[in-house]
Amino acid sequence: MAENLIIATESDKISRYSTLLPQLESLTSGESDLIANLANLAAALKQTLDIFWVGFYLVKNNAGKQELVLGPFQGPIACTRIRFGNGVCGTSWKEKRVILVPDVDAFPGHIACSSASKSEIVLPILKNNEVALVLDVDSDKLNDFDSTDEKYLSQVVQLIEKML
Ligand code: SME
Repeated sequence: MAENLIIATESDKISRYSTLLPQLESLTSGESDLIANLANLAAALKQTLDIFWVGFYLVKNNAGKQELVLGPFQGPIACTRIRFGNGVCGTSWKEKRVILVPDVDAFPGHIACSSASKSEIVLPILKNNEVALVLDVDSDKLNDFDSTDEKYLSQVVQLIEKML
């Protein structure tokens, strides 16, 4: 896979996601290394959606305790570790559900890696019914994510779950 990513010329997100999704399969299918695939998925999402920050936090062991550790991402530098139940990412991990936050200032315990981040969507990615990592997408605009993002990002999640 050395071809360029094709990005929809239309600015609406349905066109952009619809053009992107089929390409993600071919982008990742020839590679077995998870981190390499996550890195390319983060880049493809960033290029396509023109968002502030997109990346992954992976559940890892640290001295007998599990926490989320920063993985491949695109955007400004970010917090490296997040505890179970903390922030939007830690809550998505704890509750095993998608969390859509229209206004991060209104989310109790939101972790502000950047003050520019205004809205956020986090999706858990499961292996054997346990959260193995989360996909976090941040916008510098309020109320930037909706059910369209949830629908298409859930397809990205399913693609990753097949790799685990
Ligand atoms: N805001 C997230 C932390 C990760 S950064 O936004 C990249 C949270 O509250 O979990």
